Amino acid sequence: MVINSHKGPYTVLFDENGLGNIASTVPERAFLVVDQNVANLYAASLGEVLEGRSVLVIEATESNKSLDKFTAYVERLLDGGMRRGHVLVALGGGIIQDITCFLAATLLRGVDWFFYPSTLLAQADSCIGSKSSINVGRTKNILGTFTPPKKVIVCPHLLSTLKDEDIRSGIGEMLKVHVIDGPASFDKIAADYDQLLTDSAILANYVRRSLEIKKAFIEEDEFDRGPRNIMNYGHSFGHAIESATDFAIPHGIGVTIGMDMANYVSVRLNLMGRDHYDRMHPVLSSNYAQFQSVEVPLEAFFNALSKDKKNVDTRLSLILPGASARVSRGFYEKDETFVSVCKEYLAKELSE
Ligand SMILES: NC(=O)c1ccc[n+]([C@@H]2O[C@H](COP(=O)([O-])OP(=O)(O)OC[C@H]3O[C@@H](n4cnc5c(N)ncnc54)[C@H](O)[C@@H]3O)[C@@H](O)[C@H]2O)c1
Ligand SMILES: [Zn+2]
Repeated sequence: MVINSHKGPYTVLFDENGLGNIASTVPERAFLVVDQNVANLYAASLGEVLEGRSVLVIEATESNKSLDKFTAYVERLLDGGMRRGHVLVALGGGIIQDITCFLAATLLRGVDWFFYPSTLLAQADSCIGSKSSINVGRTKNILGTFTPPKKVIVCPHLLSTLKDEDIRSGIGEMLKVHVIDGPASFDKIAADYDQLLTDSAILANYVRRSLEIKKAFIEEDEFDRGPRNIMNYGHSFGHAIESATDFAIPHGIGVTIGMDMANYVSVRLNLMGRDHYDRMHPVLSSNYAQFQSVEVPLEAFFNALSKDKKNVDTRLSLILPGASARVSRGFYEKDETFVSVCKEYLAKELSE
């Protein structure tokens, strides 16, 4: 698959043995940024690649993608001999991607980077689209750039060691792009939901399809100024839930709840018929079932929703489904009706 970006085209390669070929695929002067769990789990396949001064092993935590950690990363890379013309190689999920992509955008005024996504969320969604986002203090994803990689190498077998909640988190983003593609597309993946969890070949097909759907949007609107906005379906509510629960809920699970909530709000604001909510709810609720009893503190939820960086003046910018279950962006006052509908969802629908 080839993705066109403002920095030129880059390829997404699907390679079952990508990890084994890493030494011969990346340029000679490469500095690796590797997820600690992946480094431990795949030490045998990575072999010598992990040795030497040019490897930064990082634990995938939100605090490790905070601005204050970057001093240490930069010093380590420079001490290891990183110079202009060298490249960074990320091996990990969205957290390692964000760290590496931000470094690649800024270090030495920009260096090239390669990406081996190791989570389902990264393979099916975040590996394309150019975005980097890092945290500052308590504010998540507030600094960022648009910096596409030079190459993405997807190794499906990496997914075999993921925890169930990380698989479901990735499925959340996959369900999202299929909703955006239209009701028929969503119904198809929904019918195959159970197989996504058990059949790696079926999962791999949907990973590819998810990237194809996203590709059309990012190529049309790489900088997220218009059509790409709808990729944020489920994200305003999802981010607010993630933040209000102190990130006890993985991103793609937050997005799954966010979509269900967006659908509910749409029904209650008379934007969409109840049948569409009922059609999507069973699969969405299966995907977030393990987290539905997590308490969402209301004040923190509404605070986070109001601070969403996509808002304009006092109104909330939300991606909600309309009459035909097609999603689009709109601006909504956070008035009494809106607040009570949100409370209703969090108190009743989510916990059922
Ligand atoms: N830049 C973007 O476009 C973009 C898009 C979506 C999300 N994000 C960011 O990505 C982050 C979430 O990323 P994520 O969901 O990929 O998870 P992650 O990077 O947080 O990883 C989740 C867990 O899986 C482990 N892990 C990774 N690969 C593994 C493997 N192959 N086997 C076993 N364990 C493995 C990690 O160590 C970690 O414990 C968030 O910070 C989010 O803001 C960025
Ligand atoms: Zn997302």
